[in-house]
Order: sequence, then C-alpha cells, then structure tokens
Amino acid sequence: MNKKLIDLRSDTVTRPTEEMRKAMYNAEVGDDVFQEDPTVNQLQEYAADLLGKESSLFVLSGVMGNQISLNVLTNPGDEVICERDAHIFQYESGSPAALSGIQLMPIDGVSGVITPEQIEPYIRPESAYYMPRSKVIEIENTHNRAGGTIQPIENIIKVKDLAKKYKLFYHLDGARIWNASVATKISVKEYASHFDTISCCLSKGLGAPVGSIIAGSKDFIKEAFRVRKAWGGGTRQLGILAAAGLYALKNNISRLEEDNEKAKMIAGVVNNCKNLEIDMKSVQTNILIFQSKNISIEDALWNCKQKGLLLSTGKPGFLRAITHLDVSFDEVKTVMKIIEEVFN
Ligand SMILES: Cc1ncc(COP(=O)(O)O)c(C=O)c1O
Repeated sequence: MNKKLIDLRSDTVTRPTEEMRKAMYNAEVGDDVFQEDPTVNQLQEYAADLLGKESSLFVLSGVMGNQISLNVLTNPGDEVICERDAHIFQYESGSPAALSGIQLMPIDGVSGVITPEQIEPYIRPESAYYMPRSKVIEIENTHNRAGGTIQPIENIIKVKDLAKKYKLFYHLDGARIWNASVATKISVKEYASHFDTISCCLSKGLGAPVGSIIAGSKDFIKEAFRVRKAWGGGTRQLGILAAAGLYALKNNISRLEEDNEKAKMIAGVVNNCKNLEIDMKSVQTNILIFQSKNISIEDALWNCKQKGLLLSTGKPGFLRAITHLDVSFDEVKTVMKIIEEVFN
C-alpha cells in the first residue's frame, strides 16, 4: 500500500472537512449574477462586518482579488508601489500590465517590509507628466515569499500616513491576514482599518476549497462587481462555494494558532540540522523558508519525498514548508524526524 505523503507544499492543499461539505450541501442558492444568491450575500455581509468595511465581494481566487482591486484603483499608465518579493509582482502572471495596463514599482524590503523612508523617493512628482502616475501602495501581510512574516503595525500605520499625504490608495494583500491576526492578537478589523482595500483568502489556512474576499467602500465594491463580471468571474449558484467560505470564517480562524505552533516546532528541528539554515526571526506564522547546504534543492525535495514528505521551493534557492489544517501534531513529529534524517 502507498504510504500517505505529508504535504507541506502549501496551505492550499487542504480538503474540505465533513462539516464544511455539509454546509456546502445544505447551502441555499440563487443566481449570483442577479445578486440573488442568499449564501453569497450572507458571506459578503459577514466578511464586510468582520473586516470593518462598508462592503465586500466574493471572488474566485487571491489573484483575482488583488487584480480586480488594482484595476478599480488605477487607470492605464499608473504605477503601484510594492515590495520586490510581493505576490502581485512575482506570482500573478504579469496581470497588472496585461489586465490593467499599469506597472509596478518594486522596492527591496527587509522580511517583506518597506518603510515610508524607502517608499517616499519613489513617489512620482505630480508635475512630472512624462512619468507614470503613482496611484497605489500595496503591502502583503503575512508576506509569503519572506516566510510568512508579519508586517509591524507601526509601519503599516506610517505607510498609511505617507499614502494619505500623497493621496495614494493603500491596498493590502491579506491572503493570510488571519495568520497574522492570531499571532499578534491584532484583530483583522484593526488591520483592515488602515487600508482602503483588502483582499484575503478563504482557501489557504482557513481550508475552503475556493475563494477570496475583497473589501472596501461601497463604491469600490460596486466597481469591483462590474470588473469581476467583465473578467468572466460572474457565476451563478455560487452559494455552494460561499457556504464553505462562510463556514471557514466562522470556524477556522482561531485554530490557525495551531498551524503557527506546528511551524515553530518544525523550525526548531530545521535550525538544528547541520545541512540546513533558517533565519529564526522569520518564523512568525505558518510558513517556513530555509536553505539547504551541501544538498541540492532537487535532491533535498526528492529525498524528503522518498520518506513521505512533500516540500516546495519558495524564492530561488530556498525550500519552503507550510503547515495547515490537514497536518496533525503526530504528522508534524514525523516531519521533524524525516527532516533530521535527510539533513543531518
Ligand atoms: C500572499 C498571496 N497573495 C495572493 C495569493 C493568490 O491566491 P490564489 O492562489 O488563490 O490566487 C497567494 C497564493 O498563494 C498568496 O500567497
């Protein structure tokens, strides 16, 4: 019999639980293009309230959430300031250019964090008609490529003040804002309050099969609804999926503490392996990125897989492990054992 692989490639590999499936099965549905799906409407109201925003919209993915948001906030020729390892820069298929005719201005950060002092020189002067127009500052919390690092709230606020000073929009890619919130005990509402717009995922740590939420003002969501339709994202009995998202928001946020704890347990072993290197300061939530010494990335992935563990690669030269709700504490102990065997 094939041994079950422990899959730490991503927190998106989870499968809906029995209870979540029941919620989906029992969902009341209608046509969401007519805005008549009661479960979608309920999810959107619940999420808007949770995030402290006027309105929210259920979209099919995190990429769709970020890209619709940027599209609504900008005009072709505009520029969005972000950190160099930001998901919107690295992993969204060039969509800002392809879908919205905008460009990104990536700035080198530390652990995914860019400060007002770093950002300000990159804001284009209004008089410079020959330059792109700065329109949005975007940050990511937690920061995926930096290893699930949390944006310090003081810096979030300082960057907001800078955005205000220059009349720029401030967008949060909060795909894993829930993981940040359980780690810092700062509510998602407090985090969201500093941004004009926020995108956050239901299909990562929260365990829903599909979906993200974008939230902001009523006017922003009205436009976002239009863009979602234009991009082919208007769907019909979407309540089947919204029910999973609603279940996830109501039941799966506080348990993320467990994922963060499991990541710390694994990090402790990684830190002690002679052929691995990890920056323990980056171990803040459920994502671990670390480097393999003396063993190539390909061999490392293969050797772990032979022993029943799936890892992935993060930024070039790094291995990545992400904990999630489908990995038990017992499996974490097995993971620790496999890592010791492969890398010592
Ligand atoms: C920070 C961040 N933003 C956005 C996304 C995109 O989410 P999706 O895969 O649902 O499009 C991801 C996915 O991993 C992510 O890590």
